[in-house]
Amino acid sequence: MTNLALTINGRAYGPMDVRDELTMNDFLREFLGMTGTKFGCGAAQCLSCAVIVDRPDGSSYTNPTCIVPAVNFDGKSIRTVEGHASDGALTPLQTAFIEHFAFQCGYCTAGFLNEGQVLLERLARQKVARADVEATIAEALDGHLCRCTGYVKYHEAVRAVILADPGRYLI
Ligand code: FES
Ligand code: FES
Repeated sequence: MTNLALTINGRAYGPMDVRDELTMNDFLREFLGMTGTKFGCGAAQCLSCAVIVDRPDGSSYTNPTCIVPAVNFDGKSIRTVEGHASDGALTPLQTAFIEHFAFQCGYCTAGFLNEGQVLLERLARQKVARADVEATIAEALDGHLCRCTGYVKYHEAVRAVILADPGRYLI
C-alpha cells in the first residue's frame, strides 16, 4: 500500500492508502465513480483513457491511465472529462465537438477532448501561424484512436475553435 494524495478537477483527494498495483483508471472509475475516463485497449495504445496533468508552471500534458499506477499521480493535479464544463456551461471545444458531430459511440471522446484542450491552452500561450494550424492539430491529436473513425470531425472541431478566436490562438 502507498499513500496517495492528488487534486482532480480542482478538488483535493486523500491522503489515502491505495494498493501499489491499482491503476489510475480503476482509481478514477471504481473508487471515485468518475466513469467519463474510459478503458479502451488497456495497453497504452489508444489514449481513450488519457487525462490532463497540470504542471505547476501552468503548462499541461495528457497521460494515459490504463496501465499507470494511481500512485504515480501522487502530488499531481489532473483534469478529467468531468472537469471541463463549469456550472453546466460547456467549453467552446465541447460545444464544437457537438456541433461537428465529432463523436459517434463516444468511447474515445474524453481522450480527444482532453488532448484538444491541452492544445488550445498551449496555443493560447504560444500562438501559431494560420498556415501551420492543420499540421499542429494533426500532430496534437496523433496517437488517439477512434474505432468509429471520427478523426476528420475531431480535427474540424478543434480547428473551428482556433479559427473562431484568431486573436487568442493565431500569430
Ligand atoms: S485504454 Fe489506455 S491507452 Fe488505450
Ligand atoms: S467515437 Fe467511437 S471510438 Fe471514437
